[in-house]
Amino acid sequence: MDHLPVFLDIKGKKVVVTGAGTIAARRAERALSAGAIVHLFASEPGSDFDALKASDSLIIHNRDCQPSDLEDAVVAWGCVGDKSDQALADAARTSKTLINVADEPENCDFITPSIVDRDPLIVAVSTGGTSPILARTIRARLEVMLPATYGDLARFAGGFRDKVMDKLKSGSSRLRFWETVTTGPVAELFLAGDIDGASTQLKSELEAAASGKQRPRLGEVYLVGGGPGDPDLLTFRALRLMQLADVVVYDRLVGDGILNMVRRDAERIYVGKMPKNHAVPQEEISQILVRLAKQGKRVLRLKGGDPFIFGRGGEEIEALAAEQIPFQVVPGITAASGCSSYAGIPLTHRDHAQACVFTTAHGRDGVLDVDWDVLLRPNQTVAVYMGLSNTSHLCRGFLARGADPELPVAVIDNGTRPNQKVVVATLATMCDKVEASGIKGPAMIIIGTVVNLRDKLAWYNTKMGSMHSDYASGEIKDWMPGGTDQPPT
Ligand SMILES: C[S@@+](CC[C@H](N)C(=O)[O-])C[C@H]1O[C@@H](n2cnc3c(N)ncnc32)[C@H](O)[C@@H]1O
Repeated sequence: MDHLPVFLDIKGKKVVVTGAGTIAARRAERALSAGAIVHLFASEPGSDFDALKASDSLIIHNRDCQPSDLEDAVVAWGCVGDKSDQALADAARTSKTLINVADEPENCDFITPSIVDRDPLIVAVSTGGTSPILARTIRARLEVMLPATYGDLARFAGGFRDKVMDKLKSGSSRLRFWETVTTGPVAELFLAGDIDGASTQLKSELEAAASGKQRPRLGEVYLVGGGPGDPDLLTFRALRLMQLADVVVYDRLVGDGILNMVRRDAERIYVGKMPKNHAVPQEEISQILVRLAKQGKRVLRLKGGDPFIFGRGGEEIEALAAEQIPFQVVPGITAASGCSSYAGIPLTHRDHAQACVFTTAHGRDGVLDVDWDVLLRPNQTVAVYMGLSNTSHLCRGFLARGADPELPVAVIDNGTRPNQKVVVATLATMCDKVEASGIKGPAMIIIGTVVNLRDKLAWYNTKMGSMHSDYASGEIKDWMPGGTDQPPT
């Protein structure tokens, strides 16, 4: 190891920064956030300093730095980029001030690491100056893994330190206790915003640990929206819980790209519809979740899109609530939103639509059951879920109630995935075009003049190429045999 990692306490101490540009500003900013009094030497500080000027702890000297300016300074950063940096380094060595000159390793007593700031939790990454870009890449990954509220969690845990010291006398029992707290239900309750619940849970786990009674671990369920297919559309929280879960219960709308992001050794339970087979009934899925959680497992219930939009997520957590099983819900990007974005069709637009209705064209027992008065309103977009098998009923229904036969319609098949296909037509021509295309779903139907904007705004190019209104090949590989444009089980 070439360097000793330490975190310096520079609160109230003098720090010198030279330079007027971005690097100098970032150094000054970091020192200010650590509580230092920063003396900046720059004849004309650039605009990067604008936001920092409000700080009383930033003292700007519009001149060059002199050796005597380093008196009592604990750290100096040279960021000018000319020979004055060398003079600063020489002066710093004389005055025994820790010096760092940007991009001059021979003039650095220390490295300025890339940091993930979850104050009071700070993660610092250094490659010993060999590859700052690699350090930045690693930092970016850590940013994803560490929820923004981890700092608050550290503070919360810190509030119980004395109590834990008092109750658990041995260092190893405290270590085990804190491990359980930071990886188990206490942390999850806290991160989900239930501070009282986390506090109660921590106290009861502490009592159990102090009495030496091994309490069975309390399971929990994460109801997570996996989005429409592109794994890049997962939220940070979804990804973190996917990495934490012991078992994943998933359905047919969750593609391999998403499933591959789940912890490798997590058990997988498929509850979607199999070809020519019956789906696992909803009540049974709820019971599976309850049973697994009661076994103390962290259960990931992974659903396509958003769990609360045509996903029956509400019913699943009702069963959990009834059994007092802790759960949290992570929203996902719903198909209407993901598909329309990837098809270049804004759902609202000042010149076209001031409202957007999400509806399903799959009523009970497969019979079309929609509120036509709502769907036929002018200046709105209608986004239809599970409508592929009912396209003809849908188009005929609109036309029979006086809708313009030229009203544009788009069907987006396998939206956001590498095999996304878009068929654009009108109410009058859509049925024939959909039939000719052979698409099998899952598919979103978007009805409204916003569809015309696709001509200008389409941006997502798939390997198979996008289809337009004259698409007719029908050569589409379905991602799940038997078709997927079905209602949720
Ligand atoms: C049972 S609903 C589930 C909706 C999901 N909860 C959501 O928020 O997107 C299934 C329907 O969502 C739509 N859908 C889901 N993923 C899709 C995708 N990648 N491309 C097109 N439509 C999709 C289709 O209309 C499909 O029939």
